[in-house]
Amino acid sequence: MTLIIYVLADGSRRDIDVEVGRSVMEGARDNDIPGIVADCGGACACSTCHVYVDGDWVGKLPAPDRIEQDMIEFAWEPDASRSRLTCQLKVSKDLDGLIVHVPERQN
Ligand code: FES
Repeated sequence: MTLIIYVLADGSRRDIDVEVGRSVMEGARDNDIPGIVADCGGACACSTCHVYVDGDWVGKLPAPDRIEQDMIEFAWEPDASRSRLTCQLKVSKDLDGLIVHVPERQN
């Protein structure tokens, strides 16, 4: 298990242990984290699993591929420096303690 910290739009924090190999989106969905909608179920085709990665973590994550980059542009108020789609973030031990900020809304 890997600790993923979801900071909700109201500032509250949910600490969730997510199984290695799942996605950060699945960790949210399976634990009823509000604000991560994931309409397309993880196919990188909707952008409703958008989060802002905490500043300390941005450089530690694998870079988004072109498809994710393109889809992020359709997210609500994307921030090119720290927006990611959680369905594309695969949980590994390296992500232990990852902090993601859930936006106020999705599309
Ligand atoms: Fe649709 Fe991530 S769940 S893009």
